[in-house]
Amino acid sequence: MESFVVQGGKRLEGTLRVDGAKNAALPILAACVLTEEDVTLHRMPDITDVRRMEEILQMLGCRVERRGWDTIVSGMDVSSFEMPDQLSKQIRSSIFMLGPILSRFRRATVTYPGGCEIGLRPIDLHLSGLRALGVVIREEGGVIQCDGRGMHAGEVHFDYPSVGATENVMMAAACLPGVTTIHNAAREPEIVDLMGFINAMGGRVAGAGCATITIEGVKRLHGCAYTPMPDRIVAGTLLAAGAITGGEITLTNAPSGDMHAINAKLREMGCAVREEGDCIYLRAPARLTAFPLLQTQPHPGFPTDMQVQMLALLCVSEGTGVIVENVFENRFTHAGDLNRMGARILCSGRTAVVRGVEGLCGAHVTARDLRGGAALVLAGLKAQGETQIDHAALVDRGYERFEDQLRQLGAQICRIQTQE
Ligand code: UD1
Repeated sequence: MESFVVQGGKRLEGTLRVDGAKNAALPILAACVLTEEDVTLHRMPDITDVRRMEEILQMLGCRVERRGWDTIVSGMDVSSFEMPDQLSKQIRSSIFMLGPILSRFRRATVTYPGGCEIGLRPIDLHLSGLRALGVVIREEGGVIQCDGRGMHAGEVHFDYPSVGATENVMMAAACLPGVTTIHNAAREPEIVDLMGFINAMGGRVAGAGCATITIEGVKRLHGCAYTPMPDRIVAGTLLAAGAITGGEITLTNAPSGDMHAINAKLREMGCAVREEGDCIYLRAPARLTAFPLLQTQPHPGFPTDMQVQMLALLCVSEGTGVIVENVFENRFTHAGDLNRMGARILCSGRTAVVRGVEGLCGAHVTARDLRGGAALVLAGLKAQGETQIDHAALVDRGYERFEDQLRQLGAQICRIQTQE
């Protein structure tokens, strides 16, 4: 096992470039299966979730090659409609493959996906969306068999704007004759990016970013070159690292237009945040001020993937604040670790009440999921003394060389091998 070791107390300063977004890269990789031609993806993030997705594509018969900054995916020889069992369990985004594989083969077999331990994460919305397109689905012993021989364009209405289900239906419908409409679609920026990618392949998708998306099916999609959008959660986490250490940080290649909710909260805590083109500049006060309330919501509300990082910030702010997690049911699993570092968090169900303390002290803690692991690193940056965060691999799922990036800003952090 690998762990991060952080010596806290350093003020972070400097400039960093934001990497490509995990949540854009994953569905875009899946969508490569929609065409037999080569796709060139520029500057894909080098994170383990993306590597796992590439392995899934290879097991289905795709060629995936990294050449410098480019990843070239060739779906010409895709031959299997069965998702590899082991990898599906490791990465939840494997569920994205359903739409593209159905589009290619009119059949798909997939096991129930895995992913972060942050809640039940059912896939009923994915399946109901595909059923609305005429897919016949049988579920048996954790295996989902999809028969798409009768697939057709259609009207899809989601009870809840699920990001993954919206993306799956967009991909499944891209080449179905006729017009498919998705009502109550998720509006996340990564869905707009997926639309950009499908359209760069010759697709006709409109409306992403709004609650109604239309997909006019085309006969075939062709190869293209595309750069996925930068990661708003990575950007937010780096800004949070600046904020918790009273630092001063500039981000380049940042998706500033998609970060209003995050930046507004950082301002509420007393940070000066300025957005200029694709740059974001943050200067933090010596002590943050607690916001009274933060509620996670689907976009354009506050993103759940930034919630636990803000929890870490709230722990050391002046005053008392409340966080309500509305998207996932189990996303306060790191409160116990933060309390061991001296925080005063009280959780009940989806609500956490935090009384800010002056400082935290280093401790030996455990990452339990991707964002929670990053939040513990943030707490470690602020804490007095040494903090060891076990299971660094969970953080590697979504942050590219996280410790190197923080070191570039002046943090004292390294990675060590430890016993499980
Ligand atoms: C995506 C993101 C994830 C982010 C989440 C919410 C990717 C790869 N992951 O996950 O980082 O935290 O959006 O912004 O893009 N739900 C159902 N049934 C379904 C699908 C979802 O009940 O069929 C529920 C989930 O359990 C959850 C909520 O809907 O409570 C949101 O899930 P969803 O929007 O689907 O998130 P993901 O696509 O899994």
